[in-house]
Amino acid sequence: MEKLIITGGKQLNGTVAISGMKNAALPILFACALNQQTCVLQNVPAVKDIETTVSILTAMGVSIRHLSPTTLEINGAGFQPCTSPNPLVRRIRASSYLMGVELGVAGRTRIAFPGGCDFDGGRPLDLHMKGFEAMGAEMRTYNEGYMGHAPDGLEGAKIYLNKASVGATVNLILAATLTPGHTVISNAAREPHIVSLARFLNECGANIVNAGTSEIHVEGVSSLHGCTYRIPPDMIEAGTYMAAVAGTGGCITLTGVYPEHLQATIDKLREMGATVEANNAMETVTVSSDRNLFAIELETQPYPGFPTDMQPQFAALMAVAKGTSIIRENIIGGRFAYLEQLKRTGVKTIGEAKESACIEGVSRLSAANMTATDLRGGAAMVMVALMATGTSEIRNVHLIDRGYDNIEGKLSALGATILRCQDLPSENLPTSNFSAVTGIPL
Ligand code: EPZ
Repeated sequence: MEKLIITGGKQLNGTVAISGMKNAALPILFACALNQQTCVLQNVPAVKDIETTVSILTAMGVSIRHLSPTTLEINGAGFQPCTSPNPLVRRIRASSYLMGVELGVAGRTRIAFPGGCDFDGGRPLDLHMKGFEAMGAEMRTYNEGYMGHAPDGLEGAKIYLNKASVGATVNLILAATLTPGHTVISNAAREPHIVSLARFLNECGANIVNAGTSEIHVEGVSSLHGCTYRIPPDMIEAGTYMAAVAGTGGCITLTGVYPEHLQATIDKLREMGATVEANNAMETVTVSSDRNLFAIELETQPYPGFPTDMQPQFAALMAVAKGTSIIRENIIGGRFAYLEQLKRTGVKTIGEAKESACIEGVSRLSAANMTATDLRGGAAMVMVALMATGTSEIRNVHLIDRGYDNIEGKLSALGATILRCQDLPSENLPTSNFSAVTGIPL
């Protein structure tokens, strides 16, 4: 186990290159198992969830070779459906995409219950199941997970999603790509990762139209061919660094970003008092801040609304903004477990419910030891540690590593004092008041 040690109070300045989008790369990696030919994926982020996905697919017979740390060559010809390794499937939410792939190539599926960030409200997959059933599959749960088969093969269908679920939209696109007939997904998610998946599959010969709108049409094709595809930049990683500099003060430029994906985050940062300049042609965004932030009201919405995956990072900013801010979480209920940890630094809430939180800004945060509760909650802890006076420690870093590539390296290059070290069991802890690893006061 590892932890981050962060000494706060430093401004962030400089340039940071944004990695490829985790939530686009994940479905695209699974989609490669639909393809008998070789694809090359560029700009794949070096994050833990991708590592886990590569291990799952490799165990199932997909051939994957690293041409560089961020370029993968993938051939799905050897893919063996229904052989996924349960312990790895349980680690990530995106392993649910195996269902769409397995049904699409073999008309049957069997996977363990997928894992991923655990939120109080639970993360049901009922919309995925209903969609597969509409396409002719019989789905059920067994003691360890989900299974299903399509006795007469899948067929194109009209599917309405009660919620614009990202995962269900991805899974149904994957299932429909090689399925004879016409599939219509209504009330589909419109996130950039959906558009990216459709673009990638179309580059491979699929026939998917209207991705990015709420009604996606998929005309099944008989096979796919290889292609080279570049994963778009991660709008949540980008948003996290933008929020971080708003909180610490300073001026940073993000490179390799698509500003149009960041509009909701940019609007809210401006409303809080940060200065944001976006350059579409150069694919850069520059954020500067004097730390003089103002309270806001925030409501999470499906894209192009404000993303739920930026909600915890904005809670960290609200903690030091003048006045009382309100968050309404409309996408993932119970996504506030991280607040208890933030409070250790002096973050003050004056009301919390499953779907909302009210945060009163304070003038100063103090260092504390925190334990990451989930990926984005962990990012919020890094942010408060950067803003706090003194040295904080953040445990459970593996949760942050699920979605942030080299977070300590990127923040150090911007001027932060942040180190990663082993989280020693308590019997091995030094008796002195200074860390044996870093020499920093504990
Ligand atoms: C994706 O999760 C992302 N994960 C999440 O990112 C992100 O928070 C979420 O979309 C929302 O944007 C990946 O892309 C791998 P959903 P997913 O299906 O697909 C309800 C991160 O930090 N729902 O849109 O699981 C349920 O309330 C992660 O990078 C149903 O009721 O999201 C759920 O909470 C965390 N039935 C909400 O919709 C269903 O069958 C959003 O789910 C499916 C969803």
